[in-house]
Amino acid sequence: MKNFSYRNATQIHFGQGQIAKLRDEIPADARVLIAYGGGSIKRNGVLAQVHAALEGITSFEFAGIEPNPHFETLMDAVALTRREKITFILAVGGGSVIDGAKFIAAAAVYRNDPWEIIQTYGAKVTQALPLGSVLTLAATGSEMNNGSVITRAATQDKLFFHSDHVYPKFSILDPSTTYSLPARQTGNGVVDSFVHVVEQYVTYPVNAKVQDRFAEGLLLNLLEDGPKALAKPEDYAVRANLMWTATMALNGLLSTGVPADWATHMIGQEITGLYGLDHAQTLAIVQPAVWMHTREAKKAKLLQYAERVWDLVDGDDDTRITTAIEKTRQFFEAMGVKTRLSDYGLDAAVIPAVVAKLEQHGHVRLGEHANITPADAASILALAL
Ligand code: NZQ
Ligand code: ZN
Repeated sequence: MKNFSYRNATQIHFGQGQIAKLRDEIPADARVLIAYGGGSIKRNGVLAQVHAALEGITSFEFAGIEPNPHFETLMDAVALTRREKITFILAVGGGSVIDGAKFIAAAAVYRNDPWEIIQTYGAKVTQALPLGSVLTLAATGSEMNNGSVITRAATQDKLFFHSDHVYPKFSILDPSTTYSLPARQTGNGVVDSFVHVVEQYVTYPVNAKVQDRFAEGLLLNLLEDGPKALAKPEDYAVRANLMWTATMALNGLLSTGVPADWATHMIGQEITGLYGLDHAQTLAIVQPAVWMHTREAKKAKLLQYAERVWDLVDGDDDTRITTAIEKTRQFFEAMGVKTRLSDYGLDAAVIPAVVAKLEQHGHVRLGEHANITPADAASILALAL
């Protein structure tokens, strides 16, 4: 196991009825910006619960944070935040809203052009307004991490920043808020969580037993409960297990002391930036292809994954690996997320465009060995057609 330092600063309130805890978490004299998306929280009653909990506290609303949140939209929220002297940002929604809130929190008190936050991957962020979240979609882990992914629509750049200043002070995870998710978003969430785990697990062995067995446990949860959530969207136990699994998949714990890959995310991000596919759709396309391309370098962990997650113990190494990759693809498809570029009307013409964006962003040495070059990315995408 490698050396590591680990701390996670987010307080979690998990369970039904926990939205009422907002009252204890937000100072009575705060000026709160409630940031949200396209309105799902109005239709499913979550916004009404938030207002009830915040009764008597001064609050403002900023609606319209889109999936894959746009820098341009968020800058309107930054202007409102400055104008109204907001002191607390409350994100109510999925990963896009929480990521957007993190950007607003950092940008509102940033001295230079806030795009610099993204260009420097958050390295220059020295402060941020406090923020909290009410999560309504189990997927990204943004509710308990320090990352944020932002898109500049004008230039089709989808990039990210990290800063410990944007850890949510608290996040409220009420699984019943996810009953109203469309099947597409439930499926996306399961696939995103799954890929978060394997990006930190299917690399090379460093004898990190806690991390490995924890990763395998999270993957088994997703295999077991993902399909159940599609079949029975209002099963509380299923939604609860999926929600906590998704949070645990990307709150920093799994990546302690182990190498991490992230090539699938980096390539997938460019596909979303250019063509607007959902985040999880890009992962379902790229992940199996990355494994086909890197199966030699990842051999030991792919065999461990095949055995411990898919019970594959018979046959030679190559067959077990191929079967594990195919089973992974079938699982994504069973969650309603297609796994080929052609399923989304894309063809080989996208390959040079994605590669050019990777080069433009300097993302030219990807993966746990930092050896996936733009030429490799082209080969990976060719395997995903
Ligand atoms: O906008 P509203 O109306 O709320 O509708 C949303 C949106 O259309 C809807 N939705 C959310 N909760 C709902 C609901 N509909 C009904 N009932 C509910 N309870 O779902 C749609 C998608 O929402 P979005 O927030 O975009 O989804 P997700 O949580 O998958 O977030 C995706 C974004 O997170 C980034 C992705 O790149 C993408 O931009 N990621 C953030 C990460 C992080 N911060 O650590 C890591 C991830 O790898 C990921 O990159
Ligand atoms: Zn992701």
